Amino acid sequence: MHTPLDLRLRSIVAGAREQGADLSREDLRISPGEAPSPAALAEWVSQSGLWCKAAQLTWRQLVKMTSPGAVILLMKDGTGAMMIRPDSVRNVVWLKDPEIETEQEGVAVDELRLSQLWSGEALLIRPDRQSRADNEPWDMGWIARVVLAEGRIISDLMMGGVVLSFVSMVPALMIMIIIDKVMSYRVLATLWMTAALLLAILFFEALLGYVRRQLSAIVALRLDIKMNLFVFKRLLGLPIDYFERTPTGRISYLIAQTGKVRGFVTGKMLTTMFDIMNLLVVLPVLFWMSVPMAWMVVGLGGVMAMIISSFIKPIRRTYARWLEFEVQKNIVLVETLHGIRTIKSLALESAQREMWDRRAADASYWKRRLDDISNWPETLVSPFDTLMTRGVLLVGAYLSISGVDVSSGHIVAFMMIANRVSSPLIALSKLLQDIEELRASVMMVGLVLNNRPETLNPGSGLRPRFEGAIAFRGVKFTYPGTKTRALDDISFEVPPGTVLGLVGRSGSGKSTITRLLQGINREYEGQIKIDGVDLREINLGHLRRSFGVVLQENFLFRGTVRDNLLAGRSGLTLTDAVRAARLAGAEEFIERMQQGYETVVEEGSPNLSGGQRQRLAIARALIHDPRILILDEATSALDPESEALVNANISRIAANRTMVIVSHRLSSLVDSDMIMVLDRGKMVDIGPHNQLLETCTIYRQLWQQQNRHMESFRSSARAALSTSVGS
Ligand SMILES: Nc1ncnc2c1ncn2[C@@H]1O[C@H](COP(=O)(O)OP(=O)(O)OP(=O)(O)O)[C@@H](O)[C@H]1O
Ligand SMILES: [Mg+2]
Repeated sequence: MHTPLDLRLRSIVAGAREQGADLSREDLRISPGEAPSPAALAEWVSQSGLWCKAAQLTWRQLVKMTSPGAVILLMKDGTGAMMIRPDSVRNVVWLKDPEIETEQEGVAVDELRLSQLWSGEALLIRPDRQSRADNEPWDMGWIARVVLAEGRIISDLMMGGVVLSFVSMVPALMIMIIIDKVMSYRVLATLWMTAALLLAILFFEALLGYVRRQLSAIVALRLDIKMNLFVFKRLLGLPIDYFERTPTGRISYLIAQTGKVRGFVTGKMLTTMFDIMNLLVVLPVLFWMSVPMAWMVVGLGGVMAMIISSFIKPIRRTYARWLEFEVQKNIVLVETLHGIRTIKSLALESAQREMWDRRAADASYWKRRLDDISNWPETLVSPFDTLMTRGVLLVGAYLSISGVDVSSGHIVAFMMIANRVSSPLIALSKLLQDIEELRASVMMVGLVLNNRPETLNPGSGLRPRFEGAIAFRGVKFTYPGTKTRALDDISFEVPPGTVLGLVGRSGSGKSTITRLLQGINREYEGQIKIDGVDLREINLGHLRRSFGVVLQENFLFRGTVRDNLLAGRSGLTLTDAVRAARLAGAEEFIERMQQGYETVVEEGSPNLSGGQRQRLAIARALIHDPRILILDEATSALDPESEALVNANISRIAANRTMVIVSHRLSSLVDSDMIMVLDRGKMVDIGPHNQLLETCTIYRQLWQQQNRHMESFRSSARAALSTSVGS
């Protein structure tokens, strides 16, 4: 049963988490039985680096609330509820009941009902300004801001565009003069002058074109750099569990859409701006030359725009379908590349190919549909496009016959200029479609980047020097999206320098304990402390750098053995690499390799055996002399000989550090100071080997299973002995 205070705190924790901070209940210092005041609650939230304020609000303020951030309503009965969103149209607010676990579920509450429940007080929670700047969402707004930051160059470009538009009209006007004046009145002097002017303009146009391309390239490059930095930084900032939950093929495809965004911003967007400039300059000139003909051009342009925009919706729908299948296709591709060894060795090629063929067929079907649909607006528009230039001739001829003063030079010049209107007009109406595509791409990239990052504020958090004492107190943890607890009420404490073994059946929660320690999963209940400091308060980067971690499968980067050992850490030299390699039992085989530490490790390290790879990984984890070393099944891939080598070194490796060793082979844990036995997320027992053999049934069973051959050998020896004695 939850007390009202529990529920209130739970909504606040949820609200703070939505804004990117994990609150720990232990930080809320209140004496038992006392309800914390709203100010104390705000203080508690503020400690986590968020901005938080307790405020007295009216119903009107609440339904009109537009500012971002979480709003927690403090109820009269002592509970709390998070406002999901206000709905000023229906005059209700959507609340989330803290007892309902599922996300997004909410109830609509109207003014009357809320006034019975709500005390009028609320906590407003949002990220503080610095972290807000670091964590702007990736959306159209972000892109607009990046573009606007280049305002100066862009406005220069636009000015150039205006000049260019004017200049490009001159030849048409010249031709008008040549037809109307030179040819009708045979004035040679005017001809020479126009010819000279035309030549000058040719030169000037070329020059302006050069400058314009140059400036565009600069803007494009700068936008590109900003976008690249932002995207990669955000991607790396995402928590590991996001990558675990999402297929790599999906992530890579979505992220690749930044290419489209970049293409638009640095290409289409600039040319469109020029087109608009061009229209703004050219249209008035057309109206000056002939109002009826100009209206005809505008009218036809309008019809074309209507035709194109009526196709936007179906195109958008088909486009989205096609993209979804492209994503699916990419997932198969990336999975195949990652699992190519398994696929080859199990001869799964044909199954994999079939899967690919199916996805590819789906994707091409929708691509075909997309092309079909996109073909229509272009087909329908092209007659109007042609009509625009030829119609000018007809209308002009009609006008001149019916007595309006239109010279033939006028008509030709008008045709030439009108010609330059139709393509920007079409481009502009197509722009709507481009913007739709852009929006889709931005949305897709946002699906990845707008996930909550691991740390909102990399500068925050404590950076203590670790000794290596670890304490868990009542730690409970459930993986997101699962129902059962992976860890259930784990409490233990070990002093610095302990070698702690973790044993238990597969799935009992051993790796989960090591993951929580490294801060990979942060949404646990209870408390984890390292040297008495709450894990949530420690700077995440500092925390991870203080650990050495070796897993069962380790990724070696392309590069030399030495590069892999140093792993880009500054201030380390070959001497450190050699020392670490010796400690990990890797020195012997590295030195046997032809180029020693300069041997190149290929992608996927095919030139190393599993055991060698593993020893390199151990050396890499040891190189910065971590206070806490985690080995999760690190030696299970090793052959008995190299395992013995590593195990023999463990006591040396363990000097001066805390070690957490997960192993299925109990024999390698016999010498540990402490062994923790886990079963289905619960801690069954903890103690040294000899004690566990006596007190812990599960441990004894595991031990006997693994040492049955020894036991049976001993008992048969005993039996043989007793018979021989008896006879
Ligand atoms: N990323 C994850 N997402 C969801 N559930 C997970 C995840 N990782 C582990 N689990 C679940 O949590 C439970 C504990 O898993 P854990 O990896 O800690 O077990 P383990 O003791 O390390 O097992 P093993 O010896 O097989 O490595 C399991 O039931 C598992 O299904
Ligand atoms: Mg495991």
